[in-house]
Amino acid sequence: MISLFIQFFTKCIVTIVIMSLTQTTQALSLPKEWDIHKAFLENSSDIHKNTVIIQTPTELYGPKGRFEGIDFLKFLAQKNISIENMDLITFIAVDGYKVSIPLSYIKKYSPILAFKQVGARAGKWDTVWFDNAKVQGGPYYLIWTQGEAVPISYWPYAIVKFSLQNYSEIYGKSAPPFSASNKVKAGFEIFQTTCAPCHSVNLQGGDKGPEMNVPKNFTEYLSEDFIKNYVKSPLSYRANSRMLSLAHLSPENMEDLLLYLNEMKKHKVCKSQEDCATKLKEARK
Ligand code: HEC
Repeated sequence: MISLFIQFFTKCIVTIVIMSLTQTTQALSLPKEWDIHKAFLENSSDIHKNTVIIQTPTELYGPKGRFEGIDFLKFLAQKNISIENMDLITFIAVDGYKVSIPLSYIKKYSPILAFKQVGARAGKWDTVWFDNAKVQGGPYYLIWTQGEAVPISYWPYAIVKFSLQNYSEIYGKSAPPFSASNKVKAGFEIFQTTCAPCHSVNLQGGDKGPEMNVPKNFTEYLSEDFIKNYVKSPLSYRANSRMLSLAHLSPENMEDLLLYLNEMKKHKVCKSQEDCATKLKEARK
């Protein structure tokens, strides 16, 4: 029950984030889409040579147990699918549900793409309850050897396709340039997941809170200490603050976020009040 709730909650958050993004940015584009099954069928002997067996943690909303799979990065390499210059991978499930995972995370923790449940007949998977319906766990499922340390939303199951993106293709002008450091990108990921539902950068994002970059960047008129403390406890500054307290962010998260904000100073979409007013009108059309 609790895990179902978490699952629902995670999906809601993802949906809210995506909804708020698509309001001010172009619809999420998914270039370079691959059908996993097609890729598996070609040279399937290479895949079977590299099969590993992996056990999932027991506390999981997806299928549980032992699975046969292949190291996902090895699989991409075998298929000559290059992840150079890409920031994000989006897995797409049978029902169209999408989960995006930073490629930096995939490279660091090297997940397994499971294609068979151990002991089950080929093509047969345990079913999982989702949205009051039973769904098949397969045909493909992403499993992490790091177990529960990996966020619950990063265990997509029933997946059939994936696509690769870089941030600017999805998030437009709020994305740092591809050449930005990993710390800046980590900061951007925090902005996207935690701030963008309410705040915009370069006019991309939510509009419940103030814009963070144009015409002036937060770091040009607020001290870094103020930003760090405000995020933790807005109500300790303003009795009527409508901002959520985001005390769960670590000092490192905040440092990365500030690096991202500082980087975006160099990439403003508009620099004057007039220029920004025009851009804003265009963005809201
Ligand atoms: C639920 C919506 C919401 C979220 C999420 C949110 N904010 Fe805010 N934020 C606001 C609103 C609304 C304000 C305007 C002042 C207020 O109500 O506190 C604000 C104000 C601020 C201010 C003060 C700006 C000023 O000039 O006074 C800072 C700094 C800030 N937000 C940073 C952040 C950061 C960084 C994040 C993400 C880690 C974030 N906020 C996430 C809604 C949000």
